[in-house]
Amino acid sequence: MAMPKKRVAVLISGRGSNMASLIEAAKDDGYPAEIALVVSNRREAAGLGQARAQGITTAVIDHAQFGKDREAFERALQDVLTAHGIDLVCLAGFMRLLTPWFVGQWQGRMLNIHPALLPAFKGLHTHERALAAGAKTHGATVHFVSPEMDSGPIIAQAEVPVLPGDTPETLAARVLEAEHRIYPQALRQVAEGRA
Ligand code: GRF
Repeated sequence: MAMPKKRVAVLISGRGSNMASLIEAAKDDGYPAEIALVVSNRREAAGLGQARAQGITTAVIDHAQFGKDREAFERALQDVLTAHGIDLVCLAGFMRLLTPWFVGQWQGRMLNIHPALLPAFKGLHTHERALAAGAKTHGATVHFVSPEMDSGPIIAQAEVPVLPGDTPETLAARVLEAEHRIYPQALRQVAEGRA
């Protein structure tokens, strides 16, 4: 008998191309997860419109409304996730640091995609930094979220070459293709309990 699909929330702040790759993968009947909800902390995130156009429920929880009260923002987020019966959370270009409390609520059930071969180049501006460091290869990592940023257990990685003449933009585009490949694969693994 087929297992019930895991209900996934994708958290975004902007463009949402990784969100789109997860939505696309989840259209397959055999995929073990469904994208039940897309949440953005920014009302103007381009990904929200794309999700709605695909008939996916969206929510906006504007962090600015909570001022400096990070935990109040996260409690509102947690309430929405609970109300939608979410099993797994995928961060996809979600630009908020999360508190240990929230991370603890989702331990082993929250994934992030990072545009570098972790543990190299944690944090922002990874493509600029990889070029500045003269890296020969670069790539993307999907990992479980742990309280320390970009440091949780790795689920999947993809390596891409750094080519002569690369700019941060050309390199980012090559890495992004890899991201769109590995995020759906990693979510599948987690949803099937194989991670
Ligand atoms: C991606 O490069 C992702 O790895 C990073 O932020 C970017 C988000 O892009 N965390 P998108 O919104 O998924 O298009």
